[in-house]
Amino acid sequence: MAEIGKDIEKAAALLSSGKLVAIPTETVYGLAGNALDEQAVLSIFKTKKRPSFDPLIVHLGDKAQLSDYVKEVPVELEELASKFWPGPLTLLLPKRGMIPDLVTSGLDTVGIRVPRHPLTRELLQSLDFPLAAPSANPFGYISPTSALHVQDQLGDKLPYILDGGTCEVGLESTIVGMEQGQVIIYRLGGIAVDRIESAVGKVLILPQSSSNPKSPGMLKSHYAPGIPMVLGNLDELMTKYRQKGIVFAVLSFNRSFPELPQELQFALSPAGDYDEAARNLFQGMRFLDRTKVEIILAEELPEIHLGKAINDRLRRASAK
Ligand code: TXA
Ligand code: MG
Repeated sequence: MAEIGKDIEKAAALLSSGKLVAIPTETVYGLAGNALDEQAVLSIFKTKKRPSFDPLIVHLGDKAQLSDYVKEVPVELEELASKFWPGPLTLLLPKRGMIPDLVTSGLDTVGIRVPRHPLTRELLQSLDFPLAAPSANPFGYISPTSALHVQDQLGDKLPYILDGGTCEVGLESTIVGMEQGQVIIYRLGGIAVDRIESAVGKVLILPQSSSNPKSPGMLKSHYAPGIPMVLGNLDELMTKYRQKGIVFAVLSFNRSFPELPQELQFALSPAGDYDEAARNLFQGMRFLDRTKVEIILAEELPEIHLGKAINDRLRRASAK
């Protein structure tokens, strides 16, 4: 099992010697290695069992380092960086040669993010290299939002997990880039679309399907729990599965079901708060995935604030 602690110097020493360390960010925990060290990057892919065609995000301690790693920054993306960094935003930018092709899966753009979790910011600022870090989960499974989630799934493959508590945002970063002068959101995430649009005007949300895996995190079936999940109207679904005699658990936005055992239901935010719902989403999916039910019934949220991004994850988790 990995050691869990808050020792930044220890994490820095391991990373400097080419080892991997799980790091907390405000979105989800990352599986970090030296982004400029091909061996470290290779071991990230290996540890996650991630296909090599799925590029990694590079994390910087400060926006000022951006020009060291990318050739240019379009004004629109510069605007987003100023507004939302440090924070849950990843920008796709033309990479410089020192970023190994392995990191970007051969693409000429690199995903860059300045996370705002204080422990990881301090760690990044103490290093003289940036950190490549995908979410610290086995490929295709739910992203970890606590040190224990990482321990459960990758603990035997890691020397150290830097413990930064429960992730404050709970959804992966919003990924934004540009093509032919148009701002495009490639992955919905921790910064809601309306906030991006209030900074740069109307954006395009790239249709997300397995036939268009520009960004493989967009593969339809992703972030999936082990127990099958269906989405729909909860009252109708519950009636249907009850009639069929199938044992189920329920993931709702804000409801509670007195007739169902507590351990078979999870409300993302009893108060109906979208930020809280995002923060609890992956924890809720993991909680219900530990039950012995045959199926998890879930409902979509209204498509406002982070509801859009939450629904995106729910749809992928229920895609087969
Ligand atoms: O919040 C986050 O973004 C977390 C934390 C740890 O920073 N990281 C994360 O990484 O979610 P990962 O590897 O699980 O997802 C990154 C996504 C992948 O779907 C990948 O395909 C996409 O970013 N991506 C990275 N670089 C890209 C590029 N140059 N072009 C297109 N997509 C890219
Ligand atoms: Mg991931």
